[in-house]
Amino acid sequence: MIYEGKAITVNMIEDGIAELKFDLQGDSVNKFNRVTLEDLKAAVEAIKGNSNVKGVLVTSGKDVFIVGADITEFGEAFKKSEEEIAAWCLEANQIFNAIEDLPVPTLTAINGIALGGGFEMCLSTDIRVMSEGAKVGLPEVKLGLMPGFGGTVRLPRVIGADNAIEWICMGAENRADKALKDGAVDAVVAADKLKDSALAMLKSAIAGEINWQARREEKTSKLKLNAMEQMMVFETAKGFVAGQTKGQYPAPIEAIKTMQKAANGGRDKALDAESKGFAKLAKTTESQALIGLFMNDQLLKKKAKGYDKTAKDTKKAAVLGAGIMGGGIAFQSALKGTPIMMKDIAEAGIELGLSEANKLLAKRVEKKKMKPLEMGETLNRIRPTLSYAEFGDVDTVVEAVVENPKVKKMVLAELEDKVREDTIITSNTSTISIDLLAADLKRPENFLGMHFFNPVHMMPLVEVIRGAKTSPEAVATVVAYAKKMGKTPIVVNDCPGFLVNRVLFPYFAGFAGLVRDGADFQAVDKVMEKFGFPMGPAYLLDVVGIDTGVHANEVMAEGFPDRMKADFKTSMEVMYENKRYGQKNGVGFYKYETDKKGKPKKVADQAAYDLIAPVVAERKEFTAEEIIARCMIPMCIEVARCIEEGIVETPNEADMGLIFGIGFPPFRGGACRYMDTVGMAEFVALCDKFADLGNLYKPTARMREMAANGESYFG
Ligand SMILES: NC(=O)c1ccc[n+]([C@@H]2O[C@H](COP(=O)([O-])OP(=O)(O)OC[C@H]3O[C@@H](n4cnc5c(N)ncnc54)[C@H](O)[C@@H]3O)[C@@H](O)[C@H]2O)c1
Repeated sequence: MIYEGKAITVNMIEDGIAELKFDLQGDSVNKFNRVTLEDLKAAVEAIKGNSNVKGVLVTSGKDVFIVGADITEFGEAFKKSEEEIAAWCLEANQIFNAIEDLPVPTLTAINGIALGGGFEMCLSTDIRVMSEGAKVGLPEVKLGLMPGFGGTVRLPRVIGADNAIEWICMGAENRADKALKDGAVDAVVAADKLKDSALAMLKSAIAGEINWQARREEKTSKLKLNAMEQMMVFETAKGFVAGQTKGQYPAPIEAIKTMQKAANGGRDKALDAESKGFAKLAKTTESQALIGLFMNDQLLKKKAKGYDKTAKDTKKAAVLGAGIMGGGIAFQSALKGTPIMMKDIAEAGIELGLSEANKLLAKRVEKKKMKPLEMGETLNRIRPTLSYAEFGDVDTVVEAVVENPKVKKMVLAELEDKVREDTIITSNTSTISIDLLAADLKRPENFLGMHFFNPVHMMPLVEVIRGAKTSPEAVATVVAYAKKMGKTPIVVNDCPGFLVNRVLFPYFAGFAGLVRDGADFQAVDKVMEKFGFPMGPAYLLDVVGIDTGVHANEVMAEGFPDRMKADFKTSMEVMYENKRYGQKNGVGFYKYETDKKGKPKKVADQAAYDLIAPVVAERKEFTAEEIIARCMIPMCIEVARCIEEGIVETPNEADMGLIFGIGFPPFRGGACRYMDTVGMAEFVALCDKFADLGNLYKPTARMREMAANGESYFG
């Protein structure tokens, strides 16, 4: 035994070979937390002090190699000043340098995923052997950061600047074949051969058959690119990445700049640049938001897991209504392995549902994501039917018939008699109150909302809506079924619009007010897209469907008349009256043409402007700040209300709901994070500036209290 710590042990395993093993005590994975870093420092010191060591083999005692940094430690660490963070990075890097500078050859055996700091650890050794199933990569940009343990220094020197830019800016988890092809690892072997192969290679290096000193030299000197080549590689990459990230995600550009700055220097200069770049990114609001999202996601997973104990497994499901949503739900359930009955009242409906599923599956086969045999098996899991004959053994049903309370109530009552007493019945309604639908049911405890988003296979969120009488088991069972379908469930309480639509419609109301007051709806779309939404409000209404929008808006106005009932005729209503339903019938705020790929493409349409002219003021220019404030304030206040009323339990879940449900810009982290970033006092002051616009702009008492006390949602 050369060293024994809480995360690392070093043992002499064969003559002269020391095995440095990562095996973090009390954890299922290895990660770079404070303890591991301290251990690594001490372990390397111990190796250095042992003159019998002729070579070092780095391994993991877990299924993974090292998953990356311990992100839960970021919050505290990043409170420090930029200079302090950079200094901390440089200090940590001394440990990796010490490994790189050991007087003997070093090799990492990568048995499982090695990401971020985990992969940077691998890069600090001379040789890397990887198991077939392992994955390696530097995903820091996904958290708004860049590698900080030498990744931007060593990777470009090992695999070339162009490859390294791709690895670091995309942040992908790379499979073994890709890693080998790009030169990030030296060999790929079957998992059961990993240790033997690694040892054999290390012995070759010790014997002088592998020039490990040359590899080291390459990693620690300047990049092998002349000035012209450097300019080509880095400037092209910056241009491309700037186009992709639209100035909203600073991390990848900063990473490229850092690599460029350090291209003509050796290791020390390059690490200095990296530490500074890392520290700069650590202090951005974007990284705070993205790290926040990661933490929120962990919380959601933990919460969903908490339901496992009470959940009953859905072995067989059913969906009523084979329309857009029913077809999508059947597809998703079948895809993830749960057989599902798909019932409609019309043959045509069934055919539509099945052909949709068929198309989606064929695309997967085409893209080689699925084998034809699997496609057949998946389709076989969807059992189309016009009757309730086989509903006796169904565990969970999703009702997805037309959005009409009378029809839904009738269908649900009928259904209750055809299923088992303990079958869970859900409704995919987007607006109708769950308690209203439950009112005449015999077993309201088995009933709740399961709100999917369109298109079902693309949208990750499922709102699980608990009615006043819904049992905990029913909630747990539906959470589990949503998870089984590969979705992210968020449990909310019943109210008009639930969480997502309840906060989306005030945003549309903000938009409606702007247009009424003379704003050009195309200009509003552009500003909100620049703000980070995938589509602006007018375009989004066209995609959702103007008819659906008008209908849902009525429900919201009825539910919250004090603020959601417009006292003017909106441009959306004008579109509706003129049968301009949006993308679905080719005209709405925009006109839709089909592009070369057969996809709808929006183009401006003067007719839309002519139609709304009678209900809008003379055209007026609004600043971007004003447009953003008028759209965002109503949405943010409504989110605050949902939290205060307990519709959603935590700001974390509220933010995730908006990110997953309406495409809230991830780099802003969600509505609560956005209010935190602005600062509650400033946000409330901004609301007051728009007080004339009515109740939608009136912050809650609790928000004022938060502002007065300097409180925030995420502390
Ligand atoms: N389309 C969306 O964007 C979206 C998003 C989320 C939720 N929803 C909700 O999902 C539900 C379905 O919406 P959709 O857009 O799929 O509608 P749709 O009109 O495409 O499909 C409804 C289907 O239900 C069938 N149907 C009607 N009565 C039936 C009955 N008694 N038994 C069985 N089938 C019956 C119809 O034949 C039709 O095939 C609605 O409650 C809607 O609010 C829709």
